[in-house]
Amino acid sequence: KIIILDFGSQTTQLIGRRVRELDTFCEILPYNKFPKDDDSVIGVILSGSPYSVHDPEAFKVDLSQFVGKIPVLGICYGAQFISHSCGGKVEKADSREYGRANLQAFDSENPLFKGFTENSQVWMSHGDTITAIPSDCKVIASTADVKYAAYASTSNPVWAVQFHPEVFHSLQGKQLLQNFVVDICGSRQEWSPASFVESTVAELKAQLGDDRVILGLSGGVDSSVCAVLLNKAIGKNLTCIFVDHGMLRKNEFTQVMKDYECLGLNVIGVDASEKFFKDLEGVTDPEQKRKIIGRDFVEVFNAEAKKITDAKWLAQGTIYPDRIESLNITGKVIKSHHNVGGLPEEMHLQLCEPLKWLFKDEVRRAGYQLEMPERLIKRHPFPGPGLAVRILGDITREKVRILQDADDIYISNMQKYICEDGERLYDKIWQAGTVLLSTVRSVGVMGDERTYEHPVALRAVTSTDAMTADWAHLPYDFMAKVSNEIINKVRGVNRVCYDISSKPPATIEWE
Ligand code: XMP
Repeated sequence: KIIILDFGSQTTQLIGRRVRELDTFCEILPYNKFPKDDDSVIGVILSGSPYSVHDPEAFKVDLSQFVGKIPVLGICYGAQFISHSCGGKVEKADSREYGRANLQAFDSENPLFKGFTENSQVWMSHGDTITAIPSDCKVIASTADVKYAAYASTSNPVWAVQFHPEVFHSLQGKQLLQNFVVDICGSRQEWSPASFVESTVAELKAQLGDDRVILGLSGGVDSSVCAVLLNKAIGKNLTCIFVDHGMLRKNEFTQVMKDYECLGLNVIGVDASEKFFKDLEGVTDPEQKRKIIGRDFVEVFNAEAKKITDAKWLAQGTIYPDRIESLNITGKVIKSHHNVGGLPEEMHLQLCEPLKWLFKDEVRRAGYQLEMPERLIKRHPFPGPGLAVRILGDITREKVRILQDADDIYISNMQKYICEDGERLYDKIWQAGTVLLSTVRSVGVMGDERTYEHPVALRAVTSTDAMTADWAHLPYDFMAKVSNEIINKVRGVNRVCYDISSKPPATIEWE
């Protein structure tokens, strides 16, 4: 495997995904957690960082742990750190170097640049610049503004690039990572959905034997793929619990239950909406709402789980991005997320997380491998607290009904809309949903009548992991149709707006 040491850059996860796309297993670890004595590590990549190497709080790593032992690739801060630590020099650049640049001179003999073409476009984003490289290193690429765009050691297998090969705008970045991971580190490229499914089913059989397992299903792709994998491994010994808190999408509970039955899963559906609505009555604070839903969810789930008295395991669809130990540079909690939290302690259940090494796109590929219906695989992510975080202020059944109706019009039109390239609009979007601005009223006119009702905001973003997101440029004809239909058909709504905020600084959900 490849180890990616994280120095806090926003693109660290992207490096991980690029390596996985090369059918190579990798782990992202905090900069100071390089594993000792692990023979399966074939190479290490040092990520970028929000810090300068000169910052007193800058993250530092002991390079002797791996330099000279396995191939090393430093990216951006990683490149600066290697230079700074080994006798080179890093200084503040006159201006921040940000955006596209072209590799004007590169060493085509160097294995890192195999297959590169002249003037290859790369993406720069750095405030410091390398002004001298260590004495045992040679420059292997430059751009018009950056002399040391890439350098390599002549005594050790160490490469360093100032640009970001992991981002889309570095057009041959994938080639560079392939050169490093496959040619230089010698990856055998054996990590694939088929091999994942096969080995995971075998491991689950060995791990679980004849034990009974409980799994919380949410209708989302992660828990669904998790369930199908487990079903394949242990069949009837798997019991799934699907809690309806009353704030799911319109008809979602019944539809998803049907899908699960078709997949042969043993699912207990629990309608607990009464309890959730009662406990949420009059609560307006977003964090408070989340806390109540999280707590109720655990209560309902545990009460159901306890009925399965001989269960030994609790399975969860946790995926890799949920677990990557974040460096948490600001130290602030932005939102408290909840999934299935808190094991029922007295049951002494052990945790089973078969998807814990996968990125979202890999979960989807595993879903295809398992021949699951596309509906389940391509479903947009949906927050655990459901529509509660899309209704401003307090929650009532009536507000949920309004939002479900508006949301259903928006999403079903998005699923029907085919773009010029033949792809469904829905499949181009990471996540879409409607928000009921129930603390706001606006004046409208309907026939001869004056209305005074709530606006609905449409949200649609593109993203790869929900850490960052851009608002989607939806086609105007699509927006016009959705707006018309919502205002004409959904009682209680007289205005439709489109949210054009990206993350950061906005978040995907409104609460
Ligand atoms: P934000 O709003 O933080 O959301 O940009 C990022 C992603 O997380 C989802 N989300 C949640 N998922 N429990 C979840 O399981 C939660 O409490 C929760 N809150 C937000 C959100 O839909 C988006 O995909």
